[in-house]
Amino acid sequence: MSDVLAIYPGSFDPITNGHFDLIERSRRIFDHLIVALLTNAEKEPLFSVEERVGMLREVTRNMKNVSVDTFSGLLVDYAVQKKARALVRGIRAFSDYEYELRMALMNRKLEPRLETIFLMPAESYAYVSSRLVKEIFRHGGSVKELVPPVVEARLRQKVNSLRHEV
Ligand code: PNS
Repeated sequence: MSDVLAIYPGSFDPITNGHFDLIERSRRIFDHLIVALLTNAEKEPLFSVEERVGMLREVTRNMKNVSVDTFSGLLVDYAVQKKARALVRGIRAFSDYEYELRMALMNRKLEPRLETIFLMPAESYAYVSSRLVKEIFRHGGSVKELVPPVVEARLRQKVNSLRHEV
């Protein structure tokens, strides 16, 4: 049987320890994992695509079966182009479930050959999200245990550079 490739898509603005945990879990299941960053999201990101890709590459650099890529347009089109067999999404709390279920079923309608696999992060990351990390950091709270060290450093640089802009 050929190698099984999975795609872990997202905005990763920025990558958190919860994302990292899911990458570790996924790469033990699949032969190859592509962490795929959506470039044309409607929401205004804090970090540019290049910055987010840079952080993803940095934290996955010792993972031989993980690569980082970007995509735009429909996820299923990108997945078919890459010959992926599965999409990986994380479910933290029950509140994630409805949105994720709708997205998975819609993706299945668009491309029935592709399966969405839901994984749960470690319990300690169940409450971690990129949005909360940014909010905590903006108000001076510690994000040390929530993101990889490189992300904490980039958050500090970003906040300093934004302060100098005003
Ligand atoms: O990290 P996020 O923001 O929750 O990731 C959402 C993402 C990128 C997985 C989703 O918005 C997506 O797949 N967008 C690409 C466009 C698409 O295929 N939309 C239809 C989804 S049913």
